[in-house]
Amino acid sequence: MQERIIIEGGKPLYGRVRISGAKNAALVLIVASILADGETILDNVPHIRDVEVMLHILRELGVATKWNDDNSLSINPPAVMKTETPYELAKKLRASNLFLGAFLGRTGQALISLPGGCDIGSRPMDLHIKGVQSLGGVVEIEHGFISARMKKPQGSSVYLDFPSVGATENIMMLASKTPGVTTIENAAREPEIVDLSNFINTMGGKVRGAGTDLIKIEGVERLTARRYAIIPDRIEAGTYMVAAAITRGEVLVENIIPTHLHPIIAKLQETGVLIREHEKGLVVKGINRLRPIDIKTMPYPGFPTDMQSQMMALMAIAEGTSVIVENVFENRFQVVDEFTRMGAKIKVEGHTAIVEGVKTLCGARVKSPDLRAGAALILMALAARDETRIDHAVHIFRGYENIIEKIKGLGGNIKTE
Ligand code: UD1
Repeated sequence: MQERIIIEGGKPLYGRVRISGAKNAALVLIVASILADGETILDNVPHIRDVEVMLHILRELGVATKWNDDNSLSINPPAVMKTETPYELAKKLRASNLFLGAFLGRTGQALISLPGGCDIGSRPMDLHIKGVQSLGGVVEIEHGFISARMKKPQGSSVYLDFPSVGATENIMMLASKTPGVTTIENAAREPEIVDLSNFINTMGGKVRGAGTDLIKIEGVERLTARRYAIIPDRIEAGTYMVAAAITRGEVLVENIIPTHLHPIIAKLQETGVLIREHEKGLVVKGINRLRPIDIKTMPYPGFPTDMQSQMMALMAIAEGTSVIVENVFENRFQVVDEFTRMGAKIKVEGHTAIVEGVKTLCGARVKSPDLRAGAALILMALAARDETRIDHAVHIFRGYENIIEKIKGLGGNIKTE
């Protein structure tokens, strides 16, 4: 397993890069496919570590999974399946918590190991549990597991105190197989939620309002497996857009849905980076004198927390001081120590980072504390003088398909060890 990435920086990136299917949509759709009877075929699933772990969990449950010759993924659940996520696998992947809604929707019971994943702050499940309870579930938490069974399943109305992506998805999956109508108020509005809604509806479900903060789900008796193509990854796209900007190159980012990228495009344009539409996607062109900007992470359509570290990398070489406020995950500034080793000037106070732009960054030995921070370290390294060695690179392969090949394709000097 390649654990380290080595980059010789200072080369502008040029060319075109094709964006893969969205990690966060793929993970939830893979889980949701166990709600259906028959074989689901998913197109555009990225080959990344998190997907591998999710498929490994499915196989442990007795679900047949197969990559087909045309690169699609087949998922076929057995008539009777296990409804317990194995601890050893679940601890590697936060999104394994999505089995809660899917198991309950399919069989009325679930035993979920409290999940792991990126260490980016406290990630409670109170909102997921509140949703399950509102729909008639009885939930107990003991020894690191959530055990739940549906006692009197009935659609209901759930208000989320925060528009949690995972809680919205879990409730949508459970409600789609629960009799009656469920409404989710203050629901998450992310494009991945809309993708899940479209997927459930393709299978014969009745979900309305996804993409707004009020989602209505009418439970159905049966969902039937279908073929479905996953949306492109807006965070991967954003990462390559910053790669073009930070190296002062020019990159055509292909296979994207521009509306999903509005918050990222708006902020990049504020820095002065040039972005123009192209029939195949967006062309991003770097400039010499980047303007500093302020960023606040928020649920969609606010600026995504999953792009915060990458934008911080860009602001590290802007001409002036930027202020970044992280409102979603409290530990997302762990990467600052690593950035500092590369010559960045960043001060953290609680949820706020003050980034004072510097003229040059220099290569160093650093380690990747989480997935998006790892991607941001690659961006820094591409812009820095000399060589950077990024340890714990395995985090990056969790979420970026073929990242080494894609950066090499743009002329970057990058390899694994
Ligand atoms: C998903 C994404 C992740 C992204 C995040 C926010 C997947 C697989 N992961 O994670 O990449 O960074 O959305 O866009 O889709 N919270 C509670 N109680 C709960 C649930 C969440 O307080 O029951 C809080 C969390 O602590 C956090 C915030 O809500 O502060 C956002 O979490 P949430 O939207 O649930 O993120 P995830 O679904 O885990």
